[in-house]
Amino acid sequence: MNNNVRPENMTRIKTKVLADAFIEKEIKNIREQVKDKKVLLALSGGVDSSVVAALLIKAIGQNLVCVHVNHGLLRKGEPEQVIEVFKNQMNANLIYVDAVDRFLDKLAGVSDPEQKRKIIGAEFIRVFEEESRKLTDISFLAQGTIYPDILESDGVKAQHNVVGLPEDLKFELVEPVKLLFKDEVRVVGKALGLPDNMVYRQPFPGPGLGVRCLGAITRERLEAVRESDAIVREEFAKNNLEGKVWQYFTIVPDFKSVGVKDGKRTFAYPVIIGAVNTKDAMTATVENLPFEFLEHLTARITSEVKNVNRVLYDLTPKPSATIEWE
Ligand code: XMP
Repeated sequence: MNNNVRPENMTRIKTKVLADAFIEKEIKNIREQVKDKKVLLALSGGVDSSVVAALLIKAIGQNLVCVHVNHGLLRKGEPEQVIEVFKNQMNANLIYVDAVDRFLDKLAGVSDPEQKRKIIGAEFIRVFEEESRKLTDISFLAQGTIYPDILESDGVKAQHNVVGLPEDLKFELVEPVKLLFKDEVRVVGKALGLPDNMVYRQPFPGPGLGVRCLGAITRERLEAVRESDAIVREEFAKNNLEGKVWQYFTIVPDFKSVGVKDGKRTFAYPVIIGAVNTKDAMTATVENLPFEFLEHLTARITSEVKNVNRVLYDLTPKPSATIEWE
């Protein structure tokens, strides 16, 4: 039997009862597979790797070693939340790697979108490899592979899963959620006690804010993307739009325009807001946000985010646009 194929009679996990049964069964499977050996996991803080981490912590405790790489392209508060949830609350064996300068130095001056993606992916593997080599007794590698990743094996998940590791670090895989669809992973995550904003978060690209800070990334514009994104997320949550709109985010392009503040001329960046709905990410429609809400976002972003003097709303569906700008 191919264990990468979801059995036709497998019940869709929609309730806590079903999630609890899945968790119990997987804990048994994991213990049988890894015994008293150590398992390594790249924990990004995204839904899939977080659910895998929580499952493995339940199954094997300190024998799971989580590595969280902060590449500087995460959203505001994300690395802190990974430490809080996994280290402080779940007592995970967590290695936090501050690789911010390293990534930003590698990306300095690189404006081609594909090149940026490649650098981020390759550097991630390198950092993870270095951390793995410091650990001498690892036997397994856990991954947050989910069923859609198997169905579209060339899908966008490549950056998430540590596929580029050298041969001697290709451990046997532990992939406890590989037959689950995303909605099921969320139900399992909720049953495992993960916070809602981790379990129900909107999709976020592997290269993170790196593809939303257009052109060559600078710290100044990266900060503007991160801060404006945090304001937009906060306001969507406050206004009950979280969970109703599929994806919402901000973009900062690499050009400036003239503005005025406190009677003085400014020359600063625009922030572009995007908010879209889609079923499969192949096509997308634009969310019809209330004008007053857009005005409120504009007022907050232009007054609170440094180096920004204009806010625009992207009205373009996919096609002709794509969801991300790079
Ligand atoms: P596009 O821009 O192609 O995006 O309309 C479709 C969906 O995929 C996400 N996306 C990515 N996810 N790595 C990822 O993990 C990537 O390089 C990447 N590019 C786009 C995007 O956020 C949207 O949900």
